[in-house]
Amino acid sequence: MKLFNTKILGTGSFLPDKILTNEDIAKRVETNDQWIIERTGIKARRVADLSKGENPSGMAQQATLRALEAANLTPNDIDCILFSSTLADQAMPNAASVLQFKLGITNNCPALDVNAACSGWVYLLPMADAMIKTGMYKHILVVGSEMLSSFNNWDDRNTCILFGDACGVAILGRSSETEDAKIYSTVLSSDSSKKDHLTLWAGGSNKRITKEVIDNDEQWMTMNGQEIFKAAVKTMASHCEKVVRDSGFTMSDVDWFIPHQANLRIIEGVGNRFNFPMEKVIINVDKYANTSSATVPVAFDEAIRDGRIKRGDNVLFAAFGAGLTAGAVFFKY
Ligand code: COA
Repeated sequence: MKLFNTKILGTGSFLPDKILTNEDIAKRVETNDQWIIERTGIKARRVADLSKGENPSGMAQQATLRALEAANLTPNDIDCILFSSTLADQAMPNAASVLQFKLGITNNCPALDVNAACSGWVYLLPMADAMIKTGMYKHILVVGSEMLSSFNNWDDRNTCILFGDACGVAILGRSSETEDAKIYSTVLSSDSSKKDHLTLWAGGSNKRITKEVIDNDEQWMTMNGQEIFKAAVKTMASHCEKVVRDSGFTMSDVDWFIPHQANLRIIEGVGNRFNFPMEKVIINVDKYANTSSATVPVAFDEAIRDGRIKRGDNVLFAAFGAGLTAGAVFFKY
């Protein structure tokens, strides 16, 4: 059977216009700009506006139009949609199907939602890679679109400072015979022994959102920040080392590293584990905070568009999130 190599044909991202600064948050909870910057590196985040259609599928529509333009494709060229969101537009219909409709895709392509929390977009890459390699699909749209502002407790200073809304997408397709773009190696994992460190218990089948749930303030995310911090550094660093080693390379062969953007100290902690130069790390957590599974594709799209990442570069992605899920992908762009 002929196998194909996977190439990232085009990327796009969407950030809501509304900016919420640390000073804005300090008007509501007891915190301050200096504390937030020192502990997290975050200065601001974006907040989606539903009245402008900025829900996960709506943000994905805008990001995908940019990716289609970059890839020189039309909506009906997409033959599979994979959509990562921690909490998508609604339970049914799934966001990938809604996105198919919003993009005007009429080819009835499959449309699948996946939730692996902040790792969701990186989780989808090995799956899309396998489908491209075997020739199952030709142009797979991989979406990470998140509206954490809808389940972020704006009265809890431990969590509300950390998150923001955004969408990033990539269209994956085949490398031609003369191109060397390919995904070298991937790893995915989940350590469920730590699953209770980052949770959102209400809103699923177990616990619908009732008046009682709201009275008890149970409709929000809860987090054990220090446990998450330690696990994030350790797991992302070991996954990065594994995919680079499995590809037959060393860390010095990595041109750009794009880790999940949760906290600048986590990013520095990962880089320090393998003495990676910070100037080769793409960072935007200061501007957008943690946008869950959108962080990596948004940072990737920005670095391509501003000219840092170029065709032929070796790029390393790492992600980490609730579950505790994690993953890394090493590829030639
Ligand atoms: N402003 C001011 N003080 C705050 C605060 C805020 N926004 N949030 C917490 N504090 C206080 C705490 O109440 C605590 O006070 P105390 O010592 O009087 O009890 C103190 O600051 C230290 O809190 P601590 O939790 O030890 O801080 P930290 O250095 O661990 O930083 C996080 C907290 C949340 C920033 C950090 O743990 C973190 O980023 N963890 C990872 C979270 C994450 O990335 N989650 C998503 C993963 S996908």
